[in-house]
Amino acid sequence: MTHLSWNAASPRTRALIAVHLYGLAADMDPIVAFAKSRKLPLIEDCAQAVAATYKGRHVGCFGDAACLSFYPTKNLGAYGDAGMVVTNSLELDARLRSLRNHGQAAKYLSSEPGWNSRLDEIQAAVLRVKLRHLADWQRARRSNAAEYNRLLEQVPGVMPPHEPEGCGHVYHQYTIRSERRDALQHHLAARKIGSTVYYPHPLHLQPLYAHLGHKAGDFPHAERAAQEVLSLPMFPELRKDQIARVVEAIAEFVKG
Ligand SMILES: Cc1ncc(COP(=O)(O)O)c(C=O)c1O
Repeated sequence: MTHLSWNAASPRTRALIAVHLYGLAADMDPIVAFAKSRKLPLIEDCAQAVAATYKGRHVGCFGDAACLSFYPTKNLGAYGDAGMVVTNSLELDARLRSLRNHGQAAKYLSSEPGWNSRLDEIQAAVLRVKLRHLADWQRARRSNAAEYNRLLEQVPGVMPPHEPEGCGHVYHQYTIRSERRDALQHHLAARKIGSTVYYPHPLHLQPLYAHLGHKAGDFPHAERAAQEVLSLPMFPELRKDQIARVVEAIAEFVKG
């Protein structure tokens, strides 16, 4: 279910950003409808969700522009930092191409301040090769997630990730929720099982946004998620016996 805080949009709102977190598409129908009704540009953050689908269409097709991250830990990772913006707008395409190259509209003729954000050729070469393997890797991630789901069915007290009907989750992360998240994470760490909290601080409580005047309690769903989420080991090469070991450790913790 989508929890949308439409009241957070004001006349000062300039754009909406939909984040397809963990590899699962955000519920795009109401988001697109809202953006259209307010005539707001919609940007999709596909950093964690390359090739994820929503109602049969790939994420990145719903907004005015979409951002991809090829940071090495991503499902399609380069050898170093890399990323991409996609858009169907020719105007936006031209502007972005200029901005990434010091705002140059023509060679050595800058029309606005930009930055250096050109995709390195070496990274592009690595990505071209890795792209051929992406579908296989996504299948392996989905199969690992199915195995986690199967085993976690027997474990009360932890909430496995939900893949809504019509969504193709690509499991950049396999993220469970637990009301005793911190204790569970310590329990796993003591058994040399890595896990990570994405993310411990919700956006409205980040020091960066302190000037907006938000306080704890303003976005209760985000705050609760920040306290409960825990991402378990997930990568294409993960083996069934390793998944079983993680789930056994969680079951042991739950039994207490
Ligand atoms: C959801 C999300 N958005 C944006 C980013 C930023 O990507 P990059 O560091 O490649 O700019 C990341 C990567 O960490 C991410 O996970």
